[in-house]
Amino acid sequence: MTAAPPPADPHAARAGSFNAVAARYAANRPSYPPALLDAVEELAGRPLSGAKAVDVGAGTGIASTLLHARGADVLAVEPGAGMAAEFRRALPHIPLVRGDGNALPLADAGADLITYAQSWHWTDPARSVPEALRVLRPGGALALWWNTNAQDVDWIAEAAGRAGRSLGIDVAAEQRKAGERVEQADPSGRLDFTRRTIRWSRRVPIDTHLANVATHSALLVVPEERAAAFLEQERAHLLEVFPDGVVEETYDVLLVVARTP
Ligand SMILES: C[S@@+](CC[C@H](N)C(=O)[O-])C[C@H]1O[C@@H](n2cnc3c(N)ncnc32)[C@H](O)[C@@H]1O
Repeated sequence: MTAAPPPADPHAARAGSFNAVAARYAANRPSYPPALLDAVEELAGRPLSGAKAVDVGAGTGIASTLLHARGADVLAVEPGAGMAAEFRRALPHIPLVRGDGNALPLADAGADLITYAQSWHWTDPARSVPEALRVLRPGGALALWWNTNAQDVDWIAEAAGRAGRSLGIDVAAEQRKAGERVEQADPSGRLDFTRRTIRWSRRVPIDTHLANVATHSALLVVPEERAAAFLEQERAHLLEVFPDGVVEETYDVLLVVARTP
């Protein structure tokens, strides 16, 4: 059997780019801090324990795992075959259906909470907003969040500059896009979002950090040899800042939550 040809649309190519690296993604991407889940509970106006939660664009299950651990009754929704397979391998106790946020394969008014962890921007809000409103019960909540690199941390800003010079990745533009994702989460204005930013950090071996960088869609669409050469140069730069080989990654999670009337 031959592999499916990559989609011609660059947005679709990036949205689907994770599937080929699902196992690496699961092993190396950062999770989310407990303070994020506290904020989701506060802004949703209910505990996660016992909530019927639909985690859309669930990927390999990083957010689903945390929701489940807080006692939510989680149903994961994921369009990508590779991500869904990794999810099912690692989390056989959490149900997953294949589907996407623009056409949720779910009944009306059955969910207390819908979450999109780093995945709302792959949807078309003209379709995903009405879908979320259809699937949420009255008084339910839609929570969207993104881990973003804290650009005021010197080494992170320097690494972003190198990515720009070596690979043509415009990190400032990517960062602006992250802000716009939050500002324009619902261009129709039907949802009244409350915003929070939660800073956190993790210390990881340099190999984990580089493998995490390698799973970002901006790098996944760069030719493999160029990406590999870039990552080796990064290793040398980072060992100057972190000579013990343990990298402190700092993130700002941008969170928006809207409740339905
Ligand atoms: C950056 S990953 C996030 C995965 C996971 N939520 C996490 O926090 O690690 C983005 C996910 O969105 C999925 N995705 C792509 N297009 C989507 C769509 N239209 N609706 C929902 N999810 C989508 C991708 O397959 C991928 O699993």
